[in-house]
Amino acid sequence: MTKTKPLIGSIQVPGDKSISHRAIMLGSIAEGTTTIYNFLQGLDCIATINAFRQMGIDINNDADNNKVVIKGKGLYGLKKPDKVIDVGNSGTTIRLLSGILCGQGFDSVLTGDNSIRSRPMNRIITPLSMMNGKIKSVSGDGLPPLEISSRGDKPLKAISYTSPVASAQVKSSILLAGLYADGQTRVIEPNLSRNHTEITLNYFGASINQEGNTTTITPNPRLKGQVVNVPGDISSAAYFIAAGLIVPGSKLLIKDVGINPTRDGIIEICRKMKGNISLENIREWNGEQVADIYVEHSNLQGVDIGGSIIPRLIDELPIIAIMACFADGTTTIRDAEELMVKETNRIDVMVNNLQALGANIIGTDDGMIIRGGKPLFGGKVESKNDHRIAMSFAIANLMTEGDVDIVGQDCVNISYPSFFDDLNSLIS
Ligand code: S3P
Repeated sequence: MTKTKPLIGSIQVPGDKSISHRAIMLGSIAEGTTTIYNFLQGLDCIATINAFRQMGIDINNDADNNKVVIKGKGLYGLKKPDKVIDVGNSGTTIRLLSGILCGQGFDSVLTGDNSIRSRPMNRIITPLSMMNGKIKSVSGDGLPPLEISSRGDKPLKAISYTSPVASAQVKSSILLAGLYADGQTRVIEPNLSRNHTEITLNYFGASINQEGNTTTITPNPRLKGQVVNVPGDISSAAYFIAAGLIVPGSKLLIKDVGINPTRDGIIEICRKMKGNISLENIREWNGEQVADIYVEHSNLQGVDIGGSIIPRLIDELPIIAIMACFADGTTTIRDAEELMVKETNRIDVMVNNLQALGANIIGTDDGMIIRGGKPLFGGKVESKNDHRIAMSFAIANLMTEGDVDIVGQDCVNISYPSFFDDLNSLIS
């Protein structure tokens, strides 16, 4: 007998964070009006809106209806921001915006919260500098604040860049700078990361080509304002997928979720764990695949996770670690060293918190090993202001013997402000 009732019914999760960011960025540098429906009102995406407002773009955010209208000013329509741009907690904002700013004829400075100011930026500084972008870490340690100087009246230099890391933020930063280059810019990744920048650029009229792990962009397109319907965020849906699978008696439909193949690793892993999960009503919204996801309680099995699937589920690894605790057998997560440079070091934080609840888990250099099937207890866990950590432990709490006290759980506002309301609507 668990303390939580089965999760029964249907739910719609908020819009995709990655697509919401990109719709604001491209809407701002496109010509004409862009209207975004189902925009994510998370703090990260609001930071992107504020950045473009500071650069003179008229953006109307009707937060009650999640509808945003942008009056785009074209590729060369941004103006110099009057003060430092503060991206808050958002890695996507600082890295993608840096690519756009390197292409501008004005100076700018970007900073963010404590977490952002400890996240590695050399991964974008190196390729953007190869493009003659004038970008530097102010303190010289590769961390924000970042200072970007005017490129003058010369275009950036087109490059062909083999990225050492499968990161959509790195790839997108280079591709966006490529809009302002003197020829075709190419990015080759070790494994394919999420391709929302490519899909959105194509939808706004850019010429962009993806073949295998290589993406090529042609500069100076005429981007035209569009209507964007943002699919539900699969990374937010993941918490309810996990809850539906681990809480006995649950039967749950999560509607209108983006299932882009570069993001759907969670579905593949749930199936490998012998989870009862199915996709219904598959369709396409502005170049992105969308489906309703149905899950039922299942007896999960441990699984081995590594290799090219990692970028397809990188943000879901904390909640997968929770599922693994309630699965029979061992789950091994490998090749996921990128977890160490997310909003927090997600290997350390997950391992410390799960050990505090009595889980059999150890951290490794590139992931974790979890021996599941053992009850978890209540206790105190630290979110460390990391939204995905807080939401993962809210789901663990459905199954622990005793309550989990999540310190700093308000950080869910970064990507999912209505998370606790949505969860409570299903369990009360
Ligand atoms: C994102 C890319 C991923 C992901 C992040 C959002 C994006 O980061 O973890 O939450 O919107 O491009 P990396 O590119 O650093 O892997």
